[in-house]
Amino acid sequence: MNLTGIVATFAMTIIWLCGVGGHVEDAVAKRQMPQGDTTLAQLRYLIEENKSMRQNLLSRVERINEDARRISVSIVPCTCNTWANKPASFNRSVAFTAWMNASSYAFSSSVRRAQFPVVITNVGFGYNAANSTFTAPVSGLYEFSLAIYMELKKYVGLQVVQNGKPILRTRTGNYYTFHMASNSAIVNATVGDRFWVEHSGESDSSVVYGQEVTTFSGYLIKEL
Ligand SMILES: *[C@@H]1O[C@H](CO)[C@@H](O)[C@H](O)[C@H]1NC(C)=O
Ligand SMILES: *[C@@H]1O[C@H](CO)[C@@H](O)[C@H](O)[C@H]1NC(C)=O
Ligand SMILES: *[C@@H]1O[C@H](CO)[C@@H](O)[C@H](O)[C@H]1NC(C)=O
Ligand SMILES: *[C@@H]1O[C@H](CO)[C@@H](O)[C@H](O)[C@H]1NC(C)=O
Ligand SMILES: *[C@@H]1O[C@H](CO)[C@@H](O)[C@H](O)[C@H]1NC(C)=O
Repeated sequence: MNLTGIVATFAMTIIWLCGVGGHVEDAVAKRQMPQGDTTLAQLRYLIEENKSMRQNLLSRVERINEDARRISVSIVPCTCNTWANKPASFNRSVAFTAWMNASSYAFSSSVRRAQFPVVITNVGFGYNAANSTFTAPVSGLYEFSLAIYMELKKYVGLQVVQNGKPILRTRTGNYYTFHMASNSAIVNATVGDRFWVEHSGESDSSVVYGQEVTTFSGYLIKEL
């Protein structure tokens, strides 16, 4: 590369540095490249420019680092409830309704869990139709309800359980006709609590009518 080529390379470097430095452009504009001088003089000039712009950039980087340090020191960790700060439009809706479509004729002390495979609503994805279990996605107050439909002559009880403990009992039975019964309960749940419906041991029937009438529902009233 001859001298003119080197000058051209330096000139390109200076132009590039101006782009990066932004604010140092004015400083460059003030001084002029020696015109009509020897190539060597121009070369010296460019070397000087390179040095001063580098220094400029380095001190600007140092200022930015200082700002970053100041900002990170001023950041106070948030100790608040993160959901409480979300806009009302944020998903806090948790609700489900599921139907028992197939009547069950085989409840026993070992087959207790009732199946509600037809999902009508499942907002917030707490309900799992595969095992008819609702898992509380957040802690809070929940309301559950259960309606059961029953053939004549027999008496049956179904109950909603929270982690295995009954929280809501529904019973129906009368000798002469078909029956329906419903009940609801409000409970305090902790995230991860599981709710399902089971046949209660006190029943004198292994039967529950499904027929898309027997229904299990629940929803989050308020997160706590
Ligand atoms: C600009 O100066 C630095 C030293 O400050 C040097 O490392 C670099 O090679 C110079 N750039 C050119 C194009 O000569
Ligand atoms: C809100 O709910 C919808 C539908 O239930 C879901 O697709 C979406 O991912 C949820 N958003 C958040 C932030 O949980
Ligand atoms: C009950 O509903 C589930 C889910 O939609 C379906 O797979 C099953 O075949 C239905 N059973 C009856 C008896 O209708
Ligand atoms: C139901 O299935 C879900 C997801 O597979 C699981 O987390 C949950 O423990 C199951 N419920 C019961 C009561 O086994
Ligand atoms: C309900 O549960 C929450 C935590 O899930 C707890 O902080 C609160 O004290 C409970 N309230 C009652 C009345 O049990």
